[in-house]
Amino acid sequence: MQIKINEVTIKIVRGDITKYATDAIVNAANSSLLGGGGVDGAIHRAGGPAILEECRKIRDRQGGCDTGEAVVTTAGKLPAKFVVHTVGPVYQNGNKSEAELLKRCYVNSIQAAVDVSARRISFPNISTGIYGYPKKEAAEIAVTAVKEVIQAYSADSGETFLEEVAFVCYDEENERLYRQLLEKKD
Ligand code: AR6
Repeated sequence: MQIKINEVTIKIVRGDITKYATDAIVNAANSSLLGGGGVDGAIHRAGGPAILEECRKIRDRQGGCDTGEAVVTTAGKLPAKFVVHTVGPVYQNGNKSEAELLKRCYVNSIQAAVDVSARRISFPNISTGIYGYPKKEAAEIAVTAVKEVIQAYSADSGETFLEEVAFVCYDEENERLYRQLLEKKD
């Protein structure tokens, strides 16, 4: 399903994000940028060694990536131009600024994509796997953050800066949660 906000299409897709053609694929990375399991492992496997090579250069330059921040590399063999690596928060008890940090992942990833002139961006459900973020809360944060960014950009410039934001849900529960949120009128 999809909706439009100020000319930007927001889409819910079910499946493997490494197969989804876009300009910028967001990776739920860790602060080492050296790869891992989950979607991070899938992106490095499908994209090939060029991605890790660029991650290492970023590490040499700035020592990794802090939680809530985002860095950009090539997408290697993936059907995209860039990978935006962002680091979601590990969910602890909800009182460790997790919500704010997760929101920053979405905002900073879009900013990083726009900075390299990407117009279509695809997100996995950041932090909801190994990092244990409750899926419903994470989905609410993701959808709200993306809507806010689109509205803020449109108000600032009146120009279309993005064409598409896709939430690529790997599991049925996330897909259902995102659909419910997008169907909600506000
Ligand atoms: N396509 C789309 N979504 C996927 C895919 C895929 N191929 N594979 C998994 N997911 P996770 P996190 C979903 O664990 O919680 C790594 O080791 C998955 O179902 O990948 O942010 C990193 O290096 C879940 O909904 O990321 C970090 O150390 C979502 O992606 C740590 O895991 C995120 O799950 C990050 O943990």
